[in-house]
Formats: sequence, structure tokens, C-alpha cells
Amino acid sequence: MARTAAAVTVLGIDIGGTGIKGAPVNVLTGELLAERHKIDTPQPSTPEAVGRVVRELVGHFGWTGPIGCTFPAIVHNGVTLSAANVDRTWLNAPAERILADATGLPLTLVNDADAAGLAEAQFGAAHGRGGKVVVITLGTGIGSALIVDGRLIRNTEFGHLIFPKDTIAEKYCSAKAKEDLGLKWKDYTPRLNDYLRHLDLLLSPDLVIIGGGISRKADKFIPDLTGLRYEVVPATLQNNAGIVGAAVEAARCAALAAPAA
Ligand code: BGC
Repeated sequence: MARTAAAVTVLGIDIGGTGIKGAPVNVLTGELLAERHKIDTPQPSTPEAVGRVVRELVGHFGWTGPIGCTFPAIVHNGVTLSAANVDRTWLNAPAERILADATGLPLTLVNDADAAGLAEAQFGAAHGRGGKVVVITLGTGIGSALIVDGRLIRNTEFGHLIFPKDTIAEKYCSAKAKEDLGLKWKDYTPRLNDYLRHLDLLLSPDLVIIGGGISRKADKFIPDLTGLRYEVVPATLQNNAGIVGAAVEAARCAALAAPAA
């Protein structure tokens, strides 16, 4: 018998290295149901401090329902298996349980780029696309989502490829690298181009979607990318993809957990 989605409205929260933002989401349409609210990521971003901010967001929306939440690290069965851009104490932490306990509400945790991939597949630039789609989020780090014939392959971490040499891709061409190194677009775009060509060689994707805050400025770099055998487009949901994808993931998990109708 068909299982029905247990929740249509879910609070989506996107935890990033610099900001934690959220909004209630209609998971059937991907629409934000209130203006999104953002709070700076506490420094150090310990589990206790991040838990407090997530609780504050819940309070801001007077939320009492299910929560979908992203995290900028490998998330495997609710445990964070890396901690590149957050406090080291998240390494191997039961992050999903920590944040659920901090809010007292059911909470589903998903990698931030995987959430962006889910949102783009359901409502955005990857909607209805077969083949191999790669979503690359350029922010504090570089996140990646791999979607094959509409199905997400989780925790790909292409931002941690050793590239170009003796470093990892996210130190070379994330949005933060651009800022930290004071790179103008004319110096930054060739770096991103090199990286995207490397992904081309490794993955032969059909489509690459660029997300993260930088996707708002896609006209500054996408037209100057050269030598790629695939199409590159900005994320349709731009910086809301994490919030929407986290909410979608929580609704999906709730539907799987619900008793059959
Ligand atoms: C993390 C990824 C994350 C990305 C974007 C990387 O440093 O390892 O898990 O998706 O940053 O936040």
C-alpha cells in the first residue's frame, strides 16, 4: 500500500561555516513559507553553541513540527564523519541526535551539498534530468552532490579532491578561497575552470550545477568557462537549496518511517 508523506511543512535549516539559516518549507512545492532567518555561525562552532543557534531559529519561527537540517560535513547515519569547516569536536559526533536533543523536535540531518542536490533534482535545474548530474556548491568549502538518473549518491566530497597539487580543491577555488586570497573574477574563474575540467575527466557528467552564495553572481564567471564537455548552469534555488533540500529529506524520512496507510 502507498505510504503518504507524514509532513507537508517542514522547518528547513542550513548550517554553514559562516551562517545558520532557516525557513519553513512546503515540501510539495519547494516554496519557503516565511522570510528566511539567518544567524551567524558561533565561533567556535561547538555542538553546544550550534545547538543553541538551531534552538534559537526554532524559537524564531515558533516551530513545533519536524526539522530537516543540513551540516557541512560527511553525514553517515546521523554521525558527522568529518569536520573541515566546523569545530573539530563534531568529528564522529552523533550530530543528528545532538541537534534533535537541542530542539526537542524530530530532526533529520543531511550533508549540505546533498541537500542542495535533492532540492535541485526535485524543484530546480536538475528536475527531470536523467544521466549524471553534479552539483558543486561554492561557499566556505566546496560541497558536491552526485545525482544519477534522479537518484542521489551521498557524501561524494569532490571538494576534497587533491587539486591542483599538494592542496585540496576547496582551498584553491571555493568562494572563501576567492575572498581570502583577494582574487578578482579574472583570476578566480581560471581556477574554477581548471577544477571543473578535472571533474570532467573524472566523471564525464551530463550537467554541472553551481550552487552556494556565488551562484547569484553566475554571470560573472559561467560565460568565461571554456573547454568543458558538459553544460554548466547556476542553481535555480540559489542559496535556498540547502534549506529546501533538508526539508525534503526530513519529509522523505518521515514518510518512510510512517506506518503504511
Ligand atoms: C565538507 C563537505 C561540505 C562542503 C560544503 C566541505 O569542507 O567536507 O561535507 O559539503 O564543505 O560545506
